[in-house]
Amino acid sequence: MRTTNTGCKIINIATIAADGAGQISFFEANIDIPFEIKRIYYISRVPKDAKRGGHAHKELKQLLFCPYGSVKMLLDDGKNREEIIMDDPAVGLVIDKPVWREMRWLEKNSVLCVAASDYYTPEDYIRDYDEFIEYKNMEFE
Ligand code: TYD
Repeated sequence: MRTTNTGCKIINIATIAADGAGQISFFEANIDIPFEIKRIYYISRVPKDAKRGGHAHKELKQLLFCPYGSVKMLLDDGKNREEIIMDDPAVGLVIDKPVWREMRWLEKNSVLCVAASDYYTPEDYIRDYDEFIEYKNMEFE
């Protein structure tokens, strides 16, 4: 496990290779990731260079992983900004605090999966960057 410059965590997802038959990866709520999972979602059939994201969450905790392809994540905690390339099915990114994220698809049809700590709650989103900075400033004060 490594903590990134924006306070996210990069974790190894347990992965077992089968001789000539690929690999299997798995994680368990509360054991391998620090929350209960209430929702899974995934983004698929995205063309190369498409951008998504452009928001932060107030309370939601997430594990993001890319089982196929390559996606560039831009992460910003209001103080630090970094880019992380997700291209390894055995690696996960835990975001468990308000972090602004934008994603760019480096390869067509890359799949981005998310295990999330709560049901879909539109009020939990901050979709405006300036509003996000204000929200973080209140936190830093
Ligand atoms: P959004 O989280 O904005 O996706 P991205 O950051 O990848 O662009 O969600 C896109 C749309 O899907 C938005 O209208 C909300 C809807 N949505 C749900 O209804 N339920 C969900 O669990 C998620 C993740 C999104």
